[in-house]
Amino acid sequence: MTALDNMDGRQTVFEAILARRSVRSFTSREVDKVTIDTLLEAAVRAPTNLHEEPWAFAIVQDRTLLDHLSERARSIEGDAVRREFGEPGASLFHDAGTLILICCQPTVFRSADCWLAAENLLLAACAIGLGTCIVGSSLGILNVPESKAMLGIPETFSVTVPIIIGFPEHQSTPTGRKRPLVLSWTPATRG
Ligand SMILES: Cc1cc2nc3c(=O)[nH]c(=O)nc-3n(C[C@H](O)[C@H](O)[C@H](O)COP(=O)(O)O)c2cc1C
Repeated sequence: MTALDNMDGRQTVFEAILARRSVRSFTSREVDKVTIDTLLEAAVRAPTNLHEEPWAFAIVQDRTLLDHLSERARSIEGDAVRREFGEPGASLFHDAGTLILICCQPTVFRSADCWLAAENLLLAACAIGLGTCIVGSSLGILNVPESKAMLGIPETFSVTVPIIIGFPEHQSTPTGRKRPLVLSWTPATRG
């Protein structure tokens, strides 16, 4: 049984957009390879400037390595990162069993492509019942040369979007949003 077995009851895109929220509490159940491959397929369908497809992925499912990175972030970055941890001793990665790193050789547009790929991945994961959270506060530690070497990420690549994934421990309701701030709306003219 994989998360993909939920595909029959999957949400429409709009349902997934409304249902998605950041999940920070996961069960111990691992996300299997077939499911991760499917999420990556969704990610790479994102729009891409000049059809560059600049993204590359690193998948981390070694909990010891995740704990190690979390500890290093805590010791190197101190208070700035501590704010993100919540409880003392809590993991930067919220004890998720899977971290997907979307990487590129960054320029403004390549980074944009990676963020678009990230949103595809978040929505696809939500549609099949998985929980996700972007962990921007881990970018510092992930991009130090020693971490990249540990993660098999070449020096020329940077981690652009870190996303934790797992099976949500609780059902959660989506967070609210302000109404869209429309600065102007020029009406159509009749020719
Ligand atoms: C660029 C970016 C960085 C983020 N970094 C973190 C983070 O380090 N830790 C965390 O728990 N959530 C992080 N989040 C998740 C946001 O806190 C979350 O998206 C926001 O509170 C709205 O909640 P929602 O995603 O449930 O709608 C990040 C989100 C974005 C877009």
